[in-house]
Amino acid sequence: MPKYVFIETLGCQMNVLDSELVAASLVRAGYELVDSPRKADTILFNTCSVRQHAEDKVYSALGRLKHVKERNPEKIIGVLGCMAQKDRELVFRRAPHVDLVVGPGQLGQLPRLLEQIAAGEGPKLEVSLDRKGASRPLVEQSFAHFDPARDVRPLGGRAQAMVRVMFGCDKFCTYCIVPRVRGPEQNRPAAEIEAEVRQLADQGCLEVTLLGQTVNSYRDASQGRTVRLSDLLERLAAIEGIRRLRFVTNYPRHMTDDLLQAVRDLPKVCPYLHVPAQSGSNRVLQRMKRGYTVEFYREMLHRVREMVPAATVTSDFIVGFCGETEEDFQQTVDLVREGRFKNSFIFKYSPRPGTFSAERYADDVPEPVKRRRNNELLAIQNAISAEENAPLLGQTVEVLVEGPSKVSRKPSRQGEINQLTGRTACDRIVVFDGDDSLIGRIVPVEITQTSAFTLFGSVLDRPKP
Ligand code: SAH
Ligand code: SF4
Ligand code: F3S
Repeated sequence: MPKYVFIETLGCQMNVLDSELVAASLVRAGYELVDSPRKADTILFNTCSVRQHAEDKVYSALGRLKHVKERNPEKIIGVLGCMAQKDRELVFRRAPHVDLVVGPGQLGQLPRLLEQIAAGEGPKLEVSLDRKGASRPLVEQSFAHFDPARDVRPLGGRAQAMVRVMFGCDKFCTYCIVPRVRGPEQNRPAAEIEAEVRQLADQGCLEVTLLGQTVNSYRDASQGRTVRLSDLLERLAAIEGIRRLRFVTNYPRHMTDDLLQAVRDLPKVCPYLHVPAQSGSNRVLQRMKRGYTVEFYREMLHRVREMVPAATVTSDFIVGFCGETEEDFQQTVDLVREGRFKNSFIFKYSPRPGTFSAERYADDVPEPVKRRRNNELLAIQNAISAEENAPLLGQTVEVLVEGPSKVSRKPSRQGEINQLTGRTACDRIVVFDGDDSLIGRIVPVEITQTSAFTLFGSVLDRPKP
């Protein structure tokens, strides 16, 4: 009898990757993945703690499952990932019907833990050590990598994959929970990454996105000579079959010339750089402990534009951080106007218990002010996004086709014309008509209409199979 598992994923790409790997490990253990919690006998949430909102969503979803669990006590409900690591026992207290709490460093144990629960052993809690609670080597050990071999592909023959190059973060920006829930920065050996990408290429993968919280500080010195991200990209670019390489997220201070040269000189490396600025005010940046000034960020941006003129740059901003004045905010507006980012993710500051800013600074920007600043910055960015996309009208771009677009999410019948969506190398979303056989291919699309978020176009000719 197959066991049916449903996984809901919140949070960043790191979590999306973890969920894929968890799904694969469960398929290997005899589970079948289902697309709705109703069909599942095991319901897992892979959670995020980066903002309060992400946590609230999980707790309310858990609340809704209370009656389901009462009626079907044999159903297993599990909380995985960053909020599991942050809240630990608190999850059981807030949602007593939860069977399982597993941190990001224990995901490899899931098949065993589920088996033990099914055998009647009762609830299980597996999390890593607190960063302050033990010596660094012990804490590192407790945040075990979960990067098993990619021999099962539960999500179907996709042409894209994410590969972790780095686990955790050591930056401790004052607002951020990630270093606590993901543990100390640990780099994967380059040889291991290379082997994984080779395996993915053999399975038909065309595009690999390398993941790390500060991906451009990647360093592997385990084999003598230090391998930097630029060196790693060069090695991966040599792998046959791989057509595109991306990497996220970049830390502004580590945007070194060797990396920009790699982006410029290696045709497979996408000219797309996500380099979050967070704020345009030095006073705020300092309180955030970001480790750079806005002048440094501008100079970095200037260097990117000089060395890789074709590159698109994207950013993240937090508005309403503790003590942010109207003047500070205006400096962020100035940076967004000048930065010409392809797009920016803009967040309202959300105090996270256990972080420096939550403990030391007052969350003193009122919610309506945060909201207003968020909307204002978003409107400015969106206008820029539209302007930056406009010149693509009439151009032909190479699109890696990802699947049906949002409007035609329903699966079409074989060969039927559908609306598809994909991405350019510089991470622009392109929507166009085509049949499902194009999914997973790189096709030329002529752009016929542009907007702030999307380019629309038509496929020029069908690629040969
Ligand atoms: N490692 C990446 C991003 C990690 S979290 C980096 O350093 O850029 C993704 C984004 O969430 C951050 O860039 C930041 O803009 C936002 N973020 C993190 N903590 C936050 C908080 N407490 N409140 C609001 N936004 C936050
Ligand atoms: Fe968080 Fe800063 Fe680390 Fe990014 S670099 S994960 S924002 S602490
Ligand atoms: Fe969230 Fe964890 Fe990512 S806190 S943003 S899922 S690393």
